[in-house]
Amino acid sequence: MPSFMEPFRIKAIESIPFPSPDERREALTTAGYNLFRVPARKITIDLLTDSGTAAMSADQWAALMTGDESYAGARSFDRFQSVVQDLTGFPEVLPTHQGRAAERILLGNLLGLGDISVSNTHFDSTRASVEAAGAEAVDLPVPSYEGVQNPFGGDIDLDALAELLDGQSGPRIRCVVLTVTNNANGGQPVSLLNIAGARKLCDTHGIPLFLDASRFAENAYLITEREVGYADSTPRAVARTMFDLADGCWASLKKDGLANIGGLIALRDAELAGRCADQVIAFEGFPTYGGLAGRDLEVLAQGLIEVTDPDYLRYRAESARWFGEQLGLAGLPVLQPTGCHAVYVDAGVLLEHIPPQQFPATAFANELYLAGGVRVCELGTLVFGRPGQDGAPDTPAPRELVRFALPRRVYTASHLEYVVDVAELVRSKAEQLRGYRLVRQGGAMRQFTAVLEQA
Ligand code: F0G
Repeated sequence: MPSFMEPFRIKAIESIPFPSPDERREALTTAGYNLFRVPARKITIDLLTDSGTAAMSADQWAALMTGDESYAGARSFDRFQSVVQDLTGFPEVLPTHQGRAAERILLGNLLGLGDISVSNTHFDSTRASVEAAGAEAVDLPVPSYEGVQNPFGGDIDLDALAELLDGQSGPRIRCVVLTVTNNANGGQPVSLLNIAGARKLCDTHGIPLFLDASRFAENAYLITEREVGYADSTPRAVARTMFDLADGCWASLKKDGLANIGGLIALRDAELAGRCADQVIAFEGFPTYGGLAGRDLEVLAQGLIEVTDPDYLRYRAESARWFGEQLGLAGLPVLQPTGCHAVYVDAGVLLEHIPPQQFPATAFANELYLAGGVRVCELGTLVFGRPGQDGAPDTPAPRELVRFALPRRVYTASHLEYVVDVAELVRSKAEQLRGYRLVRQGGAMRQFTAVLEQA
């Protein structure tokens, strides 16, 4: 029996498709063996992402109807702004249509040619914004050791950060970014101790510290569970302490905004906010709607209140933990400890016979789809490897991870039990799986459009 119970009951339902094995094979072949190219109507359980896939609450649906669609100065913006100010303490609030627009605008204002942004790990769209500004994105995740579980595996390596700041490239560093939780590194949280350490180093060197706060509530909850001294704090209070240590943040509100679209920039510095607002106007919309409808702002304001509910966050962490345990019992190499938004499986360990250049994580993900219509996301060499030049083999990713993302409030324990059964079936025939080779790939973020064939 699952050790948790969903802290909600279901009010509206959506039927899920059950394509036959033949239909799944046909869909995957037509998609060039790339799950991003498979239509959602051919997916039974979709764990591709936790982004924009949340189910809204009755209160959010009710709030939606109150949206003020005025072009300028909408009442819905006032509500959104006051909820964000209350949550973060940042006075300057700019909505954007999603996270990457916020990144592009803020990082585009901070960075120029030859500058450096340092992070625990830049998410791929964050890295793309840094590079679009002509700057370099340096990742300094805390080192992981075989067989050692780190409760704060999302931390930045403070020694390496100090060394970089004191070294030759120190003067080129324009910002430090902490992604909370660290999506590209197993969805692990960042501790308050680590954020405070980064703050101190930033102060010494006069550099601003920003949070990529897309999963701020899950990070805050995991701090109450794992960091000494915070067991009695509310996730909301911990989140405020996180924000208090930073100069500002951006977020994709498609995650902890509990909504299907939205993003934000929130800052202390009014001058920087003014420059960002000019670009919001140019590329998103008037700063009181920033590429969103008034009704979206209402939904987000309500979502940002609901998301710090301790019962909801406990369920979120416990369902991920239970799901990870079940996958582990089914013989899958699961990254431990689990975070909240996803469970990560190391396909490199499961499919040792497939070299990284033949994308073992893709092979595992595709087989889950063929076996049971389950869609997950490859985070291995297809995503994080560097394409080889002139026919040279790819530089492999550090690990061949597959992410089973958990959309918020969407799937129940019995859906996840089904996924575990499918994964066990795939594990039982792991030795028979074959790798893939690329037939066609685009530029940055090739995973979205790549076409593959079986090796
Ligand atoms: N930052 C983080 C940490 C993210 O995980 C994402 C998106 C973004 C920024 C960009 O936000 O999608 O609203 O433009 N992550 C999604 C995922 C796509 O599947 O992990 P966006």
